[in-house]
Amino acid sequence: MSLHIGAEVGEIAETVLLPGDPLRAKWIAEHFLTDVKQYNNVRGMLGFTGLYNGKRVSVQGSGMGIPSIGIYAHELINDYGVKKLIRVGSAGSYQKEVALRDIVLAMSASTNSSINNATFHGETFAPTASFNLLRKAADFAENKGISYKAGNILSSDIFYQDNPEYYKKWASHGVLCVEMETAVLYTTAAKFGVEALSVLTISDSLVTHEATSSQDRETTFKEMIEIALSLV
Ligand code: ADE
Repeated sequence: MSLHIGAEVGEIAETVLLPGDPLRAKWIAEHFLTDVKQYNNVRGMLGFTGLYNGKRVSVQGSGMGIPSIGIYAHELINDYGVKKLIRVGSAGSYQKEVALRDIVLAMSASTNSSINNATFHGETFAPTASFNLLRKAADFAENKGISYKAGNILSSDIFYQDNPEYYKKWASHGVLCVEMETAVLYTTAAKFGVEALSVLTISDSLVTHEATSSQDRETTFKEMIEIALSLV
């Protein structure tokens, strides 16, 4: 096992979906996969491996925020040989054109986190999605008639911002939405030469202050998971 994952080497597939919420990982495994085996319960951060259309895939809870997903991404890649990491999560809209329930493919992730300063000393690394995964996800969505937006997002260290106008500086540069994980996922994947993509659904809006109902979230969640699983 690794420090935070209680699996034997070989128990985790080369492609891993990463929802923030471990109970979402369980839900995805139960509703989309067959021959499911739970491989992790350390810290309640559930992880499962099963089959999707006959192909092996794992689903691992990542927790919330950059430090948490950074730990899981590092160990999945370095201790378990994972090659494709696909975050499935929610995000808050920064644009009036990005509506509740929209799906966003994160091409790149700006951040207010200092994670990369230790490496780049004040210079700026641009955490970027795998073009291969991004193109496949976009093609799949188009073929299925699922609408999506693709672009730059913000991975924020702060959920509760004091300043309600904070989002505007990012919005004015075309940033589509905010979440809290993708910048380190893309950075870690780049560092170790593997592929990563974040597929997000808009759960709330910093522009209109609306939020989705739990029923809405379930419907769009399914489309997001179908896109992610098309990459296995
Ligand atoms: N994830 C979903 N909505 C969010 C928001 N408003 N801020 C940060 N992460 C989010």
